[in-house]
Amino acid sequence: TGKSSFVVVANRLPVDRVLAADGTPTWRRSPGGLVSALAPVMRKYHGAWVGWPGSSDDAPGSFSSEDMDLVAVSLSAEEVAMYYEGFSNATLWPLYHDVIVAPEYHREWWDAYRRVNERFARKAADVAEHDAIVFVQDYQLQLVPNMLRQLRPDLKIGFFLHIPFPPAELFAQLPWRRQILEGLLGADLIGFQREGAAHNFAALADRYTEATAEDHRIHTADGRSVRVQQFPISIDVAEITDLVSEPDVVMRTAHIREEIGSPEHMLLGVDRLDYTKGIGHRLKAFDELLAGKEITPDDAVLVQVATPSRERVEAYQTLRDEIELQVGRLNGEYGRIGQPAVHYLHSSYERPELVSLLRAADVMVVTPLRDGMNLVAKEYVAARTDLRGALVLSEFAGAADELGDGAFLVNPHDIDGLKRTLLAAMRIDDAEAEQRMRALREHVLHYDVTRWAEDFVATLRAT
Ligand code: G6P
Repeated sequence: TGKSSFVVVANRLPVDRVLAADGTPTWRRSPGGLVSALAPVMRKYHGAWVGWPGSSDDAPGSFSSEDMDLVAVSLSAEEVAMYYEGFSNATLWPLYHDVIVAPEYHREWWDAYRRVNERFARKAADVAEHDAIVFVQDYQLQLVPNMLRQLRPDLKIGFFLHIPFPPAELFAQLPWRRQILEGLLGADLIGFQREGAAHNFAALADRYTEATAEDHRIHTADGRSVRVQQFPISIDVAEITDLVSEPDVVMRTAHIREEIGSPEHMLLGVDRLDYTKGIGHRLKAFDELLAGKEITPDDAVLVQVATPSRERVEAYQTLRDEIELQVGRLNGEYGRIGQPAVHYLHSSYERPELVSLLRAADVMVVTPLRDGMNLVAKEYVAARTDLRGALVLSEFAGAADELGDGAFLVNPHDIDGLKRTLLAAMRIDDAEAEQRMRALREHVLHYDVTRWAEDFVATLRAT
């Protein structure tokens, strides 16, 4: 692998290195929406992707896959614990998601975060051609833009935050707030999911660094100008459209409906098992609907896919226990032999199975307490080429900005409101469903991830 004119830097490579039963290493698509979002762009530019292979054992340095060069950054077990599980996912993740759980601040974690960001920056500097575009992703790598600028002033550096950027009162808790803001200000363009996030950032940069913010332009102390803008991310619509018409998917969709038995409505949740996703609120509302006999197990079944995630982080272990207790109670109370009230699947599925589930569901339930965008909501819409089905969507997901008119918007904290909304979505008639789905599809089809990436890169080039 040589040098590249387009380099993506992300915590994860688009594939994970996993060991098969016989000990041989193989690769598997890695979790999260980021990979699906960027794969089409990488194909187009045949870029290089710098990232962590997702395990702490020795990984090969560099190799080529489908359409891009993969450049692995290895992390020791200790770095995984302190930079990834610690600072990224027990400090920044909860802080940036409205402190749904309390963030932990540890100086050793911060030191590891800095060290690992430095390693990513050096790798990117090594593989980038002169004047290349480097596109840095997400909260795990917020120091990379400025570190990279020190190493390679010739580069065009873009940064995109896939998760929310918190309001000033919350961000101000961070003992390293100035360093994070300065790290990001090394970029020429900083992208956020929502307008409010861009605004939060500009105000904070103005307050806590030497830079001054003037609307969507920030002037740094060293005389550069940084652009801050909203770029709501989307999905690979074509990939889903293709899957929808595959005979295996069509058959599997019908099978899923047979497998769940007679219930009239299939409700579906598909989430990483994360406390930001509001899975517990969803289960509570469903439980109360059954308890109040507003629905019976013959009316509706909930299929909840909960993809294992960050399993060594304590808050995720606690969440798993809580959710599984709730599911167990629900099924004990309302289930029968061969007919549980909730089908709980603690598992990660391949894309065809996911699309089959999306096609089988009458009501897609997306109820995060806070979410940068939520790509599953958009994937549901993309999968409904038949113009059927209803989307229940939290107003605290970034996707609500675009999908507000076709979706059933809901405040997931308001359990009564959530119950009413679930009932309304179940009782919708075909004509209204079609009308809403058309409105939803107009947004999702019009602005897919290819457009998102092209927009970002074109804006970055123009800075
Ligand atoms: C979110 C983040 C991504 C992350 C993904 C999966 O979508 O924005 O950066 O990759 O979750 O989480 P994980 O910790 O498994 O990478």
